[in-house]
Amino acid sequence: MLQTNKKKYTVIALIIAVTFASIAAITPPTQPKERNLKVLPKDISHDSLDHLMDYYKVALSVKCSFCHAKSVTNPKKNDFASDANPIKDITRKMILMTDEMNAKYMHIITHPANDSTALQIVTCNTCHRGKAKPDVADLVIK
Ligand code: HEC
Ligand code: HEC
Repeated sequence: MLQTNKKKYTVIALIIAVTFASIAAITPPTQPKERNLKVLPKDISHDSLDHLMDYYKVALSVKCSFCHAKSVTNPKKNDFASDANPIKDITRKMILMTDEMNAKYMHIITHPANDSTALQIVTCNTCHRGKAKPDVADLVIK
């Protein structure tokens, strides 16, 4: 339980970090790394990228290959840098949308200082809740 919470907070902290890092990434320091990153910070550490990808996988209940294309040379492997899978670009838009919601709108909601449930952050899971396409039944006002 404690472990689960710890993991949850690590992921939340990571999302916040990525949100601000991608804002800061408007003027990025040019890195020699050959990663094909168009929205995430170009200097993101290997560990942070790993955690974030695992988070997307869980938030949508999908495999890495849902977003990543197969390698042309070895179809048993994913080619993570490839943009051949259109879902990857949809995800980039989703990342930008989520960042914008947090940067522009979430801070306007105020909470009492002692409200420990106040997250004030939108994540993929806010909408997706473990589904690749958010379930309409979750969204409809009853
Ligand atoms: C919901 C879609 C999604 C899922 C699931 C996902 N990824 Fe990604 N991944 C992306 C996107 C989008 C990018 C590019 C981000 C950018 O352009 O800044 C990316 C980039 C990467 C990169 C960097 C590739 C490069 O350019 O060098 C690696 C490595 C990676 N993902 C690994 C994984 C692994 C491993 C998994 C499974 C645990 C995974 N991804 C699951 C969407 C996803
Ligand atoms: C405000 C709600 C919301 C947030 C936040 C959100 N999404 Fe989405 N996402 C949607 C909706 C709605 C769709 C379209 C579902 C459909 O077509 O039925 C969608 C579609 C997608 C798809 C395409 C699925 C498919 O099968 O075509 C991917 C991939 C995706 N989102 C990834 C993400 C990721 C990763 C994040 C976090 C960075 C995220 N989304 C954040 C609402 C959201």
